[in-house]
Formats: sequence, structure tokens, C-alpha cells
Amino acid sequence: MQNSDNKYYIGVMSGTSLDAIDVTITSFDDSVEIVSSKSFDIPLPIRQSIESLCSPGDNEIHRMSELDNQLAQLFASSINSLIDSLKIDRRRIQAIGSHGQTIRHMPNNKLPYTLQIGNGALISKLTGITTVTDFRRADIAAGGQGAPLVPAFHSSIFSKSTKSRVILNIGGMANITILNNQPSVAISGFDTGPGNILLNEWILLQQNLNYDKDGAWSASQNYDEYLLELMLQDSYFQLPPPKSTGREYFNLSWVKNCIASLNKPVSVSIVQSTLCELTARSICDAISKYAHKTDEVVLCGGGAHNKDLVSRIKTISGLNVISSAEFGIDPDFVEAAAFAWLSKQTLEEIPANIPGVTGADQPVVLGAIYPRSLRDT
Ligand SMILES: Nc1ncnc2c1ncn2[C@@H]1O[C@H](COP(=O)(O)OP(=O)(O)OP(=O)(O)O)[C@@H](O)[C@H]1O
Ligand SMILES: [Mg+2]
Repeated sequence: MQNSDNKYYIGVMSGTSLDAIDVTITSFDDSVEIVSSKSFDIPLPIRQSIESLCSPGDNEIHRMSELDNQLAQLFASSINSLIDSLKIDRRRIQAIGSHGQTIRHMPNNKLPYTLQIGNGALISKLTGITTVTDFRRADIAAGGQGAPLVPAFHSSIFSKSTKSRVILNIGGMANITILNNQPSVAISGFDTGPGNILLNEWILLQQNLNYDKDGAWSASQNYDEYLLELMLQDSYFQLPPPKSTGREYFNLSWVKNCIASLNKPVSVSIVQSTLCELTARSICDAISKYAHKTDEVVLCGGGAHNKDLVSRIKTISGLNVISSAEFGIDPDFVEAAAFAWLSKQTLEEIPANIPGVTGADQPVVLGAIYPRSLRDT
């Protein structure tokens, strides 16, 4: 319930799937409470600009800088509309944590880098609220992957239990946080590989649809075991953690290369089924290899709505799989709430990366702060 003393933090997430901008207004006073949340559409021209900047091309600096501002305008108008609909006093909002749009994630480059855009100075100006962005760079500077950053938040919510849990976020990529019920066992986690990304890209190519609703298409066929084995041989799946990945690695070209190596015809619907099995199998393999003591899996991210994918994960793992909704947190807004929480850690100068997860050489305070304009007080 809204309390007149509560302090609020806003989280803004626009992930690799480019499905929507998720905004939450959250308080962390007694426990985590998502006061309000909404997903906002990404207009097609902006989506196309993001997609074209995700791979090398001409005139990148100019295109990126314009998109940086366009995204900030879009984030700010989404935030402002959610605040206005609730009639919350802006002065009670301590910060906006804006993840930004990843256009390149290269943690294993010789000089590692990651790039999330959505101009924090402009968001701060257009909302009148202190804005924290650029959460991943400090971890990369400390030698980490810059990802995943949500495990500390997952731990703050889901770790108080006699059960050993895996928090599984199925966004564009899939990532797990391993929370052992023995406090002496360190928190761990990593990107297991593709989440929704390959399923989305294949159905877009074949049927011009943004996603396979409820996994109806993938469920309509059996998978091809040879294609599956070939895909599972990709070195990313064998790589030990810490590791993170993105759409510059797992994408349509990756799928096409695997099909080309198969050397036999395969129907487009069998490919969709095989991609769904690959996603489920790579997640379950990671859990059985690195979290074999798991009692239950807590599911969040848009992939939680894919019935076929979730059913495959249940069958392969044999584990109890429950939604984060059972803990009062809508699975579609866990990531946005995490960035609201991360902005609080930044303002309080609390390190929020977990070196055992990202591979950083030390805990670091994450994020760049763009203070609200004093004229706006
Ligand atoms: N009913 C549904 N059936 C199948 N898939 C769904 C359904 N609803 C959502 N999805 C999938 O979830 C995706 C969006 O998930 P999400 O918003 O968690 O990903 P994201 O924005 O890439 O986030 P992240 O930063 O975690 O990668 C959609 O693109 C779609 O593939
Ligand atoms: Mg999303």
C-alpha cells in the first residue's frame, strides 16, 4: 500500500527482445512493493534504428547519438505518463534507474566494452528526477562481464528460504541466479544462452510475427535431434561461468549457419521446435551442472508466458517451476524493478555487482548519476 512516507524509485528496462519499454514505480521501505508498472510500445522506426545499430554499419556515431536522444525522450515520456496517472509527488521519487538499450555487448573483446544508450542527462532534464544509467561499465572496468547484474536484487528478494532456488529470467537471453539455502555458499549466476531471441527471429522471418504466442508453433512439431545436437555443440554452452552473451552472438545468422551445417533438409516448423528445445535444454543443462541442489525454479521474464518452453523446462529438469508472481512480483517487471533497486544502491554508494557472478576483481558501485536540475525542486 502507498504510505505517505514511502520513497519511490523508478526502474526502466528495454531489453534485447525490443518488445517494449517496461517501467515500474517501486518502494523498498519494508519489502519490495511494485506500486505501479506499465509496458510502453517502441515505435517501429526506433526499433529499426536500434536493430541497425546492433551490427556494424555506416555513420554509426551520428546515428547512435540521435538514437541516444530519441530513446531518452521515449523513456522520459513513458515515465512521465506513469507518474501522472498515479498522481505521485515527484519529489518523493528518489531516482530513476534506466538500464538503457544495449546496442553492443563485447565483454570478451581485447579492450572489453558494453554500450547501453538512452541519454541520462536528457531523461533527468525531461522528468526533473535524478537519473542513474550506464550500470554495466564499472563492472567491466573491474574486469567483469558487466552482466548479469540482477543477481544481487534476486538475492535480496528470493534468498530467505530453506529452499535452494534458481531464479530464471527468460528475456532475449536467459540468465540464472543460483541461491543456495546454505548462506555460506556464494551466490552465483550467468547467462545460459538464448532466451526468446532465436524463437522470435525465426518466426519473424518465416511468418512475419514478433513472437510465437504461447509457443503454439514450436509445440506443433517434434524437434530434430541432429540439429539440436549440432546447436548444443556451440562453444558458448560448454564455456564455464562467468559468462554473458547477447544478440551479436545468438541471432538469425547463427541459426542459418547451424541449418547449413546440418546437410539435410529440415522444415521451418521443425526448426522452431528445435530452437525451443535448445533454449530449454541449455537452461536445464546449466542448472543441472551448476545448481544440482536446486529445490525450485522461480521464473520471470517474457518467456514465462511461453507455455511450450516452460513445459519443456519442467519436463527436462523435473523441477518445481513457479512464477515470481507467487512472491508478489509480476514476472514481466522483475528486471525493471531490479534497475529501480540498483539505482537505490548507486545513490547509497553500495556496491551491487557480485564478483563471483560477473568475474570482476572487486565489488563496485555501479552506474553514472545525472542529478535532477536544482531549478526543478
Ligand atoms: N504469450 C507469450 N508467448 C510466447 N512468448 C512470449 C509471450 N509473451 C512474451 N513472450 C516473449 O517474451 C519476450 C519479451 O521478454 P522480455 O521483455 O523479458 O525480454 P527482454 O525485453 O529482452 O528483456 P531482457 O533484458 O531480460 O533480455 C517477447 O519478445 C516474446 O518472445
Ligand atoms: Mg522486454
